[in-house]
Amino acid sequence: MTSSSSTSPVHKLEDYRPSPWLTPSLELRFDLDLHLTVVRADYEVVLQAEKIEPLFLNGESLEFLSLRIDGAIVDPEDYQVSPTGILILYPPKESFRLTVENRICPAENTSLEGLYKSGSMLCTQNEPEGFRKIVYSIDRPDNMMRFRVTISGEESLFPVMLSNGNLLSEKQLEGGKREVVWEDPFPKPSYLFALVAGELLETKDSFQTGSGRQITLKIFVEKGNEEKVSFAFDSLKKAMKWDEDTFGLEYDLDLFMIVAVEDFNMGAMENKGLNLFNAKLVLADKKSATDESFESILAVIAHEYFHNWTGNRVTLRNWFNLTLKEGLTVFRDQWFTEDMTDPAVKRIKDVLFLKEFQFPEDQGPMSHPILPKSYREMNNFYTVTVYEKGAEVIRLVSELIGRETFKKGLKLYLSKYDGQGVTFEEFVSSMEEAAGHSIPNLRNWYHRGGTPLLSVQEKYSKDSNEWILDLLDTGASEYPLVYSNSIAVFDREGKLLTEEKRIMSGARDQIRIAALDSKGTKPIVSLFRSLSSPVRLDYNQSDEEIQVLAKVETDGVSRFFAFQNLIFDWFRKSIASGREENFSIILETIADSFGVGWEKTYYSFYLSFPGLTQISENIGCYEFTKIQKLRVWAIQNISTTFTKNFQILLEENRKTIPIQTKEEIGKRKLKNIALYYLLYDPSRKFERLAVMEQREAKHMSEEVSAMKFLLEVDSKEKENAVNLFFEKWKKDSLVLDVWFAAQVTAGEDRCKIAENLEKHPQFNIRNPNKVRSLYFSLARNPLSFHKEDGSGYTFLSERIKRLNEINPQMAAALTKLYSPVSKQKGNLPKIAKRELEGLAALPNLSKELGEVLGTILNSL
Ligand code: ARG
Ligand code: ZN
Repeated sequence: MTSSSSTSPVHKLEDYRPSPWLTPSLELRFDLDLHLTVVRADYEVVLQAEKIEPLFLNGESLEFLSLRIDGAIVDPEDYQVSPTGILILYPPKESFRLTVENRICPAENTSLEGLYKSGSMLCTQNEPEGFRKIVYSIDRPDNMMRFRVTISGEESLFPVMLSNGNLLSEKQLEGGKREVVWEDPFPKPSYLFALVAGELLETKDSFQTGSGRQITLKIFVEKGNEEKVSFAFDSLKKAMKWDEDTFGLEYDLDLFMIVAVEDFNMGAMENKGLNLFNAKLVLADKKSATDESFESILAVIAHEYFHNWTGNRVTLRNWFNLTLKEGLTVFRDQWFTEDMTDPAVKRIKDVLFLKEFQFPEDQGPMSHPILPKSYREMNNFYTVTVYEKGAEVIRLVSELIGRETFKKGLKLYLSKYDGQGVTFEEFVSSMEEAAGHSIPNLRNWYHRGGTPLLSVQEKYSKDSNEWILDLLDTGASEYPLVYSNSIAVFDREGKLLTEEKRIMSGARDQIRIAALDSKGTKPIVSLFRSLSSPVRLDYNQSDEEIQVLAKVETDGVSRFFAFQNLIFDWFRKSIASGREENFSIILETIADSFGVGWEKTYYSFYLSFPGLTQISENIGCYEFTKIQKLRVWAIQNISTTFTKNFQILLEENRKTIPIQTKEEIGKRKLKNIALYYLLYDPSRKFERLAVMEQREAKHMSEEVSAMKFLLEVDSKEKENAVNLFFEKWKKDSLVLDVWFAAQVTAGEDRCKIAENLEKHPQFNIRNPNKVRSLYFSLARNPLSFHKEDGSGYTFLSERIKRLNEINPQMAAALTKLYSPVSKQKGNLPKIAKRELEGLAALPNLSKELGEVLGTILNSL
């Protein structure tokens, strides 16, 4: 049962205290059964506090069986069992053995936390607090344990039984049962424990470490997927090599295992030696996976692998410090992907993601510092702020001290704190130690929420013939920050004059730049290049200046964003005046870009027209129908102006080879962009090209884009496209996720379509990937979700209500998409309020959902 939110306590950072008791080692026993699994834990318990006090073991949704201390049954008077755990009132001495036994029902566990059933397997998810749904335990990250795990189960159901570390023994038992014993030599907190059992196929590879050790790599999949693992193996080996080359970090066990799981609440999980993955982030082949999914697989495999050091060997003291492992590990996987692909393109993608998802979170009701001050339900804090902004703060550190010093700092941090649970302070001070100096104001990044807004004022000084830029951090009062500001100066023709990296510590900075000539002509300045700190700028550059940067900024990332800003400026003006403003500067910039010869993937990004949400967030306008009208007008204008160019681009890149190389990925992306614009031609004469592309596709990126584009432009062919796609892929659940999503992602009135799709036999509300495909995609489609009549809000809240009973994490995550409702027009905020209050009154309101509802309702 879900525990009621009104009674769920708030955990406060300032209240943290070390665990009075620790369990440095345990023996775990599982007698597996889909419906009645018996779990027994045998702990070594030691006192850590000054004197003996009651011992609390966390436990949720467990059926208590027995409790023993040093082998003797404990008197029932001496402990209390409640829905959140067991309180042992009188622990007898400072160290003893504690044996606790309970039962669980994995088949009924739809929360996908703890031990649960997915497809034909049983598996676990324990971060952050799932272990307490498996067995009574001191379930907190600063309680590090040595695990020995015995699993027994029917061989016909569970031919494969896995846990962390090394396989010690296996034997046949009576009655068709088998037993295996696993031991993990590295102490770890409960959240890194994993167990997997079921009918799985094993695929195998190996990796030789720099020091010559041979590591066995295994990926376990359900039957039928064994041909889809080679890209994941390659990604893993690249990640292992990169961590050695970059940071000197080797893998520490002889075996590394990955399991692909169909039903998974998030992307993946770094359990020691036994990573569990959402199947969509492991399985891929050229026929069924897009270029984007290949790149996600590369990044997430690396991310989880990198956690072995940043997260597992050095772990967290408490959950407030989640960003210590997540921000750092995201930064490491970003860096890795930059090295494996194209640094500018990778940075563009990351900054786009940050701006589209993290900036709004930071400016909305869910805003929190990367080190949250309090939480009710930790699951709600696996946020883009903790992850992506956290990564930006780590990147900032690397900008401030340089990447070479950063490498030294990381090595120092890992060697100093190996085997411990620490806080961001240990990380920051290691970096300072490596740099040889302190970094004032750096720590405030952990405490200050919201994206800093820096205003930039320019003035001309006649005396010195200089231009003076005054930068002001408008929100610095309580927490002044330190910034790395990467600057370039250009002349009016776009010639690069100077480059400089400045450190701004505190609320203000003043930059003096020589005028371009004796008449005081103003130079063109590019600030925070490649987003060298996670800031928003309030800087009134003229469109002419921005255009120069959009054409020639030598930093490809800033060049890209300059062009985007040109587009946003046009929207801002057009929304204000109520008509399409002069578009020529945008057309000119595009015209100039043809034939420059930028790298193909880069160029495809450059040409991509920003989406509705991006535009709306950037110009702070939530009138989606108006923006949409302007957006269509603009794309049609580009389309008809450059028909010939797009035809050529399409033709030149039409023939691609279905492999994952930079060149071929670039070709696919470029021809898709060209096709996209052509489809917006009002004559609709190019639609047959998309129809052809879908039919002749050799790679999923071609097949899926064609269908999506036909849907977006509301082509007469769209039904055929959707049906054709379904017929071809109806047996592949991962591809169907894309199919579900494509039908609700763009356009108005997609709720009706979603209502039909959720009745589809292949839809399943218990599968998070399906929930993401249908409900999240719909809620990210502003034309449908924020429709004036409120139908989007009613639709979604009804599904959240169902999910609250099934999977509270999913329910809460969906509810966060209501965050921007207070900014909407007309009755929308009122309707949202009514819907959310309805949810808050649910009889079985989960802790997860209750916390998110409370926060959003507070803003309404
Ligand atoms: N540690 C995992 C990762 O980032 C994610 C765990 C997410 N857990 C959650 N409850 N949302 O690699
Ligand atoms: Zn992570």
